Amino acid sequence: MKNWLKRLVGNDSCEVHFDEGPTVAVDSGTTIMDASKQADVEIDSFCGGNCSCSTCKVMISDGAKCLSKVSVEEETVLGPKMINEGYRLSCQAKVQGIVHVKIPRYF
Ligand code: FES
Repeated sequence: MKNWLKRLVGNDSCEVHFDEGPTVAVDSGTTIMDASKQADVEIDSFCGGNCSCSTCKVMISDGAKCLSKVSVEEETVLGPKMINEGYRLSCQAKVQGIVHVKIPRYF
């Protein structure tokens, strides 16, 4: 079903699957960061979701097309290399379908 038709009939199924955690159903337009809070999954957020630190970056392992487009601000913070590798800022990427997310762990 086309996205515009789903919104019209209210059949807008959005889910975030965390690779090492639970799956959570969310409203369309919810950020991955907010979905992680609903799922009780920890994502770092040094700038508080203000698109300036990049500590909230996540790898989209599937469903990248089901996210909002990368904004100029997000591209500035992440850089084109990370975006091409499949990373998004979880505080900026809004869910519009079914998305699979891997959270990088550095420690
Ligand atoms: S929380 Fe800082 S860029 Fe997302």
